[in-house]
Amino acid sequence: MDKQIRRIGVLTSGGEAPGMNALIRAVVRTASAHDISVLGIRRGYSGLINGDIIEMAARSVDGIIRKGGTMLYTARCKEMLTDEGLQKAADTCRYLGIDGLICCGGDGTFRGAQALSRKGVPCIGVPGTIDNDIGCSDYTIGFDTACNTAIECIDKLRDTTQSHDRCSVVEVMGHHAGYIALNVGIATGAVAVLLPEIPFDFERDILERMRQTQVTGKKHFIIIVSEGVVGAQELANQIQAATGVDSRATVLGHIQRGGSPTVRDRVNASLMGYHAIDLLDKGIYNRVVAVSGDKIVDYDVNVALSMHKTIDRDMIDIAKAISI
Ligand code: F6P
Repeated sequence: MDKQIRRIGVLTSGGEAPGMNALIRAVVRTASAHDISVLGIRRGYSGLINGDIIEMAARSVDGIIRKGGTMLYTARCKEMLTDEGLQKAADTCRYLGIDGLICCGGDGTFRGAQALSRKGVPCIGVPGTIDNDIGCSDYTIGFDTACNTAIECIDKLRDTTQSHDRCSVVEVMGHHAGYIALNVGIATGAVAVLLPEIPFDFERDILERMRQTQVTGKKHFIIIVSEGVVGAQELANQIQAATGVDSRATVLGHIQRGGSPTVRDRVNASLMGYHAIDLLDKGIYNRVVAVSGDKIVDYDVNVALSMHKTIDRDMIDIAKAISI
């Protein structure tokens, strides 16, 4: 019997996230098991536009499940926003006989997939970003590893902060979302966590909380700030000027994007990669794979892009209650 899907492409796009390799591995291995051939598109959508493409088979992905980064490289491809770039990408798919394309990344990646699907290329999106900021999914590949990397660094910072009775202001990533900051803040016992979702008030969110802990005898302070809320150095200077507590700033930066993926990222990426091929194999196209509770689900790409999720207010209250 003729199979509808004989060849697929897989790409990773946007900021890479630990676990993307586990996703690629699952896609390649599941496809191989279904007699579907796989092309690896390198450097995201720009690989489609520029023909940067490799053939992949079950053995091409040996040993990558434990590796950070993405073996297919990644890029943020501005050309995909132009008609010409989009047409080139769609033409490449047609020329190479790509019957379905798996695109792992964030919202921008899904918008690329949505545009390609309108040009007749069947696409499946898979959420891969450390920020966990995809509206349709409770979880995104890379989030757990990024949080674990951040807490490992902040635990070390606490050793030096405590020894000097200092205040450490630590900036974490997250784009416009505070998921990394909130989870890391709880996990490291930060006295204050500044999130993009909550307007920042220096007196209420910093000084008042420091005072509350000082009366209980605390002499050192960890403050987590999500990128974009306020500059870490600027905040450290303000704190030192207002309280006299010697303050230092640390920007964790891209270190949060690296490293061997945790079990949670490896397993979720593997399940999502399997699910993506399963959809294509069943002739179900233009979906975004997502995590809902402990289940792998999928949504129409247009619906997925219209969905929003909000940060858990109870978690914010709990973080405040237990860090004094
Ligand atoms: O989306 C992942 C992310 O690491 C964000 O947290 C951050 O805002 C952004 O990417 C940084 O992008 P770049 O790697 O282009 O500096």
